[in-house]
Amino acid sequence: MLEYQKSIQDIIKERTSWRTFEDKPISDNERQEIEKLLTSTFEFNPFGGKNRFKLFDIPLEAKSSKQSYGTYGFIRGAQTYLLGACERSTYDFESFGYSMEILILKLTEFNLGTCWLGGTFDQSSFSQAMQLEPNEFLPAITPVGYKKSRRIKEMIIRTAIHAKKRFSWDHLFFCSDFTTPLNPEELDLYTYALEMVRLAPSARNLQPWRIIMQNDPPIFHFYSSQLDGSFIARHPNFHRMDLGIAVAHFDLTVRELHLSGYWVIDEPHFSDNSENPLQYVISWQAAEI
Ligand SMILES: Cc1cc2nc3c(=O)[nH]c(=O)nc-3n(C[C@H](O)[C@H](O)[C@H](O)COP(=O)(O)O)c2cc1C
Repeated sequence: MLEYQKSIQDIIKERTSWRTFEDKPISDNERQEIEKLLTSTFEFNPFGGKNRFKLFDIPLEAKSSKQSYGTYGFIRGAQTYLLGACERSTYDFESFGYSMEILILKLTEFNLGTCWLGGTFDQSSFSQAMQLEPNEFLPAITPVGYKKSRRIKEMIIRTAIHAKKRFSWDHLFFCSDFTTPLNPEELDLYTYALEMVRLAPSARNLQPWRIIMQNDPPIFHFYSSQLDGSFIARHPNFHRMDLGIAVAHFDLTVRELHLSGYWVIDEPHFSDNSENPLQYVISWQAAEI
């Protein structure tokens, strides 16, 4: 498992999407550190699957061509990107979301700026740069670089998607059924793990994760809300990556807090009495003492 020097909860609180960078690649030292991480076995992934990552510098000659390695104007300045290839499997997008977020949090610890890009990047040139195998695809990338003050366009993007805001607990976390909000005061240390889920990034900040807790022993069932039908129809896999990210935040936090348990994919039977349709994803069950 990849190790963090700082508290994972502090890193999660620090992370924020960054879209304005100094116009230079990352230093050789940082590159070496990151490349070491990419080649080591850095994770246990609850969704299985195979993901590989590589750092890529935009070639100098591409700077004059607006077509190649573009981000539709969303990212400015970054010269280095982290590209991720994912092998097709049942839980490929969830698995990719989990692995990529583990790396993004490590880059945050290095004080480098990042921004998940699942849509606003030139698929064709970045896929070529990743040299995809026939059974692989490129679900998302992130710029990696030195943060510069956010430009006005970036501030407008953040305001439009309410990037700073998160739903309140009673909207996201439930006890025993889909309508009874979970009371954080009854949760002990699990409160922190759920709070870290709440702070996770998600495509268009839609925060699709919903969690139902059952007791004795504690079990947390993760669901994906399918509320924004038109967005899901256009980007069916973004929510799946978002759920992988939420699972990474929960997993890293329970590990840090020495709460032992394991992941299972075994759908419980609740009658869905909430208004929006929910799709079951995975559960974390505390080890019985
Ligand atoms: C799976 C995924 C895909 C995303 N795709 C894009 C994208 O294509 N372009 C972009 O500017 N931001 C993208 N984002 C960033 C989100 O807009 C951002 O995480 C969200 O607004 C919350 O803001 P924060 O990351 O600063 O907390 C994506 C985030 C996730 C998790």
